Order: sequence, then structure tokens, then C-alpha cells
Amino acid sequence: MRILLADAFPAAHLAELTELGHDCDYRPDATTDQLAERLTGCEALVVRSTRVPASALDGADALRLVIRAGSGTNTIDCEAASRLGIHVCNVPGRNAVAVAELAFALLLALDRSICDNVADLRAERWDKKRYSRARGILGRRVGVIGLGQVGLAFAERAAAFGMEVYAVAKPGRSQETLDRASSIGVHFVDDLHTLARTCDVLSLHVPATDDTRHLIDADLLAQVQPRTIILNTSRGHLVDEDALIEALEDKDIRAGLDVYADEPATSTGHIESRLAKHPNVYGTHHIGASTEQAQQAVAAEVVRIVETFASGTVLHCV
Ligand code: MLT
Repeated sequence: MRILLADAFPAAHLAELTELGHDCDYRPDATTDQLAERLTGCEALVVRSTRVPASALDGADALRLVIRAGSGTNTIDCEAASRLGIHVCNVPGRNAVAVAELAFALLLALDRSICDNVADLRAERWDKKRYSRARGILGRRVGVIGLGQVGLAFAERAAAFGMEVYAVAKPGRSQETLDRASSIGVHFVDDLHTLARTCDVLSLHVPATDDTRHLIDADLLAQVQPRTIILNTSRGHLVDEDALIEALEDKDIRAGLDVYADEPATSTGHIESRLAKHPNVYGTHHIGASTEQAQQAVAAEVVRIVETFASGTVLHCV
């Protein structure tokens, strides 16, 4: 197949695709605006951060497959793809540990004010007293919102650090999830507001859907205790950012954010975010999945999806 890879892709897996006989057009710096032109003659498109709107797909006559090298597909116009008969596949789970590790890193960093601490020292300020209010995380209650692969990996890490892990009881969870949750020692509560009221940390691990838009809103934020830490390594869509800014001002809470409502359409660009600039926020660049381990695992699955598709089977179609 002729494949456009419009984001960075590990060299070994790119070579593997070529050795398998695919004609790869590797454009790690492609922008959304260039996609339409570059897609001419391509049967498959692989993207990570580059947004894929309907305008990129409309004229792509040969295109049959779009692979999102990650789990979320909110950056792809799936409705347009389906109208045009193009399959959209994702790569679920392969980057879960990396995302959970980042969420945990943000938690530890916020608890110990690591970023402010480093910045002060770089500016040659020695102010030990300023950093005497860390709470410590042992025995703290953490509410994990979403018990998919990432949520469970985060919950495992939290339990290993001696935190008490809570989640919302929900019908329809698989036996495998329930077994894993039980081995971690997850306690279940009835609803999100109870979780917000009782936990010291809330960590979001659900996809962006109509049901999850602004899951963290003013009502929910009104329930949280002072000094709560809110972590979002999933999607900006889950948080009402204005409500969070107000809560950061009014209440003594902090947030660790890897994702924002309005992110640039490619992996480099400009971002306007009042949240990212807020002193109570530690923000990163949607880098949850940016580890070599995760990117290689994702790329290996991309190769498998391409190969399986070429032989007539569609894997992980969303
Ligand atoms: C995901 O959807 O899994 C992440 O957004 C992936 C990524 O940023 O690479």
C-alpha cells in the first residue's frame, strides 16, 4: 500500500513497513493543511497529533484506512471518514503505562512543588520555608475516573505508593476489569460527586465522548476539598476550563494537566491557554504517550494493522 505517515514514527518500524513492500511517504512535519495534497494516491494514513478534518479526506480518492497511533480518535473526523467509506482504526492500550506514569509524575511533582522548586533554584533563590507544605501521598485517597487500561495502570501505581484507590461503581464493567480492580484494592463509591467529596486526588482516564464533555464542571468542583489535586492526562474536553480556573482562584486546589480544550492541530505550534499559565497548574505538552517504549509498542501495532488490512481484515476499527 502507499502510506502517508504524517507524524514522527520510529525508524525501525518505518523500515519494517518498507521491507514488507509498502511505499511509505514519511512526512513527520506535515501540517493538517498539507494533508489533502499529500494524500493523493495514498491508501493509508498514519497520524499521531496531526488533525484530520473532513477537508483532508474529501478528495483522497485512494484512501481506505486512517490509523491513529494512539487510543483517542477525536482528532479525526470519523463521521466524514465513514461517509467516504474510509476505515478509522486506533491503537488502544499500547501507550497506557506511559500515560499513567506521566499522571503519577504530575501528582508527585505537584505534591512536592518540584517545578517551582527547580525554577527558584535556577534563579539562585534558596527558600526552604516556601516548600514546607507538601502533604505526602501515603494513605491519601485517590479517585480514578475511568478504569480502562490507563486508569488501571495509574491505580496500580497509586496503590504501590500506599494510596487508597477509589472509583465509581458502574454497571457493565468486564470481569477482567473487576478482577484487576479487586487485586489493586479499589474501593467503589456510588457517583462522581461522592468521589469528588471524599478524595484528595482526582485523576481522569476516560475518552472524549458526548457523555464525558465537561465531566469536571463547576458543580463537581464545588464538591472538592481544599488542597485537592486534579490530574488530566486524557482529553481537554473532559474539563470545563473556565470553571477550573475559577476553582483554582477560589479554592486552594492544584491541577496537573497534559491536555487542553484547544490544542494545536500538529505536534508543534502555538497554544493560548490561561490554564497552562496558572501558578497552581503544572502543565505539559500532551506528552503522556511520548516515551520510546510506548511509541515503539504503538508503532508495532500500526504495522500489524497495516499488514492485517492488506490481507483483508480490519483491526481496532472504531
Ligand atoms: C492517545 O490517544 O492515546 C494519546 O493522545 C496518544 C498520543 O498523544 O500519542
